[in-house]
Amino acid sequence: MAPFASPDHFDPQLQAFLEQASARLCDWLGSASHRGPLPALSVLPEVAPPSRHGLSSDALLEDLQLVMEGAFQPSHPGALAHLDPPPLTASIAADLICAGLNNNLLAEELSPGLSRLERQICSWFAERFGLPFKAGGVAASGGSLSNLMALVVARQQANLQHDPQAVVLASADAHVSLLKATRVMGLAADALQRVPVDEGGRIDLNALEHQLKILRSQGRRCFAVVATAGTTVRGAVDPLAPMAALCAREGLWLHVDAAIGGAFALSSSTASAVDGLAQADSIMVNPQKLLGITKTSSLLLVADRTHLESAFSTDLPYMEPAWGEAHGGDMGLQGSRPAEVLKLWLGLRQLGEKGIEDLLDGAIQRRCYLQNQLDSTRLTILTGPLHVLACCPSHAAREQVEQWSVATRQRLLDHHLMLSRPLHQGRYFLKAVLGNPHTQSGHLDQLAALLNQSLLNQSLPEFP
Ligand SMILES: Cc1ncc(COP(=O)(O)O)c(C=O)c1O
Repeated sequence: MAPFASPDHFDPQLQAFLEQASARLCDWLGSASHRGPLPALSVLPEVAPPSRHGLSSDALLEDLQLVMEGAFQPSHPGALAHLDPPPLTASIAADLICAGLNNNLLAEELSPGLSRLERQICSWFAERFGLPFKAGGVAASGGSLSNLMALVVARQQANLQHDPQAVVLASADAHVSLLKATRVMGLAADALQRVPVDEGGRIDLNALEHQLKILRSQGRRCFAVVATAGTTVRGAVDPLAPMAALCAREGLWLHVDAAIGGAFALSSSTASAVDGLAQADSIMVNPQKLLGITKTSSLLLVADRTHLESAFSTDLPYMEPAWGEAHGGDMGLQGSRPAEVLKLWLGLRQLGEKGIEDLLDGAIQRRCYLQNQLDSTRLTILTGPLHVLACCPSHAAREQVEQWSVATRQRLLDHHLMLSRPLHQGRYFLKAVLGNPHTQSGHLDQLAALLNQSLLNQSLPEFP
């Protein structure tokens, strides 16, 4: 097979190669439930390119097979550990086409149709989230980058680019990417100030107001308040509307990290879980986390899209001027980037409104079903209105809880049920993310039984 597709004629060898690669992928996906979520062992093929001639198609496929066999399997029904659902089939195909097109969202002349598609899909999300007409956005490779870009825009709008003492306020349970962002932005070590949460894991509004007063008395300026719509460990949603009202009173930028919760705004049956989202100045959403869009898929939406351009545009003097609005490369931190929007767009087209609603409802129903079966007299259960739940023994010392978490996670893995083990507020929890559409009630019955059973000898967990 030639290393580059012929520009002159249809290449049957390329077609056969792609078909064989697809067949192997279909086989890997179709045998997911026969293995566990984690591979039994992982052997990597040789890394360096062959010293002289390149590999044949067959040898390339064998190399690919080895990598596939060592991969995490999100399509296994027991893959419940993280916010990494099975991929939508249309999204897989779009990823392949995206690679074949090899367009570049940096500039319009390198992605004429796809730049427009990105703008339109951002506008569609903005409209569904209730943002004003002048809203717009940009795709980014992951939520951490979207959060960083949002904070850069917020700081610029507050005119605090040259103040290293400037501060961001977020809840104690907000995602660590905010800390990374403040470091990258050259801010002081305490620039991310964490506000306590209530018993539901939501930011404490009184504490937030109090923190603002303290900052004022210290002469420090705040340039953004970050609300989290779906915290990482329990899926709590901060009180968005009251936070927006407070920010409006104080003249502060409200960024909503809706990496997890944003998708729920797309369906009228679940939108109330993220009420108030529309009042944000910027919103980050990660369709990769629940909707099954292949990674990476993250959008940063800004209530006034011109703010993105004014924060990031450098002009691109080596490119033709943009035909529409600003070039993709002028709307964010990234330069060259793939048309990630393709798999988002096609995935949503595949699902349709009904499919989106079913995915979101199903995820919440699975969380409720599991929650109802857990022994709440002996387990501390942390959850919120979404599809994430974490638990740990209520009546055990910290070290015992840690032992319990290690032993129980392993026991669950032995039954092909994979939960994660977050360290949260000084204690280990086992966390289940119920976004996997392949998970049936039988799997959840087994999960609940094993978790409840793990408590029988709770004071010193011992498993055979
Ligand atoms: C609430 C929240 N925000 C941001 C992120 C970061 O997203 P990413 O991993 O795509 O960078 C995560 C990741 O889990 C998250 O849970």
